[in-house]
Amino acid sequence: MEGTCPLFDIRNLSKVFPGGNTALDGVNLEITEGECLFIAGSNGSGKTILMRILAGLLDASGGELLFRGKPLAQALTGAGNFRQELGIVFQEAPFVGETVEEDVSFGPSNLALGKEEVRERTEEALARTGLLEKRSFAPRRLSGGEKRRLALAGVLAMNCRIIIMDEPFANLDWPGVVQVLRCVAALKAEGKTLIILTHELEKALALGDRLVILDRGKIRDGGKPEEVLDRLPPGCGVRDPRRSCRGVEDCSWLD
Ligand SMILES: Nc1ncnc2c1ncn2[C@@H]1O[C@H](COP(=O)(O)OP(=O)(O)OP(=O)(O)O)[C@@H](O)[C@H]1O
Ligand SMILES: [Mg+2]
Repeated sequence: MEGTCPLFDIRNLSKVFPGGNTALDGVNLEITEGECLFIAGSNGSGKTILMRILAGLLDASGGELLFRGKPLAQALTGAGNFRQELGIVFQEAPFVGETVEEDVSFGPSNLALGKEEVRERTEEALARTGLLEKRSFAPRRLSGGEKRRLALAGVLAMNCRIIIMDEPFANLDWPGVVQVLRCVAALKAEGKTLIILTHELEKALALGDRLVILDRGKIRDGGKPEEVLDRLPPGCGVRDPRRSCRGVEDCSWLD
């Protein structure tokens, strides 16, 4: 069965909150093992809610969600360990360690690995995210960008096959962006499935196999990033980064 069906098969998925707020409205999406999928859309378009449902952290109100051809609920309770396969870089990551190093090693130390393997994975994750010098800092003492990189380091150390990143580039300075891009490129080369929620569409152009645009809980478009950006519908809340912004007259938001 594995390999013949999509990793995630999302069919007519909806999420309506008590009180009537509709966050997702009839979403259909197939996610293939090993692809690098970018999902973009304006604030409140439903990206994080979709991610939480995919991760089994939130129930949908309607529709179907299949993981490797079976309802996600089965993967969550069955023998295969879905939770260990999936790593999430949360938009607002909760930190669990007293220090940066402890925080990164927390995940792998719960995986029944030897001490040396945990140490190696922690070192590598800290190095890949440029946090070696901050290893003894309390996570709360990190800057916003360093916190983003710490959230990524924790997931790298878990060595998951599927990784969802919610706004991994937020708050980063240019060296931080480069570091995260290098990590994404390396994970892609390793064949991981990457689902990246972001407003930064030039990253989708550089690394995405596919770009999907969410707009008020509906999928407006999906395909090769450059093709989707070539035909962006007006008012979808996403801007083509290839348009220059040298002056106010170049800002596509201003009609
Ligand atoms: N518990 C809740 N009750 C009611 N509405 C909610 C709840 N949680 C989220 N929403 C709504 O769901 C919609 C989608 O939210 P979501 O967090 O998925 O947006 P997003 O696309 O991730 O936005 P951003 O780019 O700002 O991160 C928003 O309108 C939000 O107000
Ligand atoms: Mg969000």
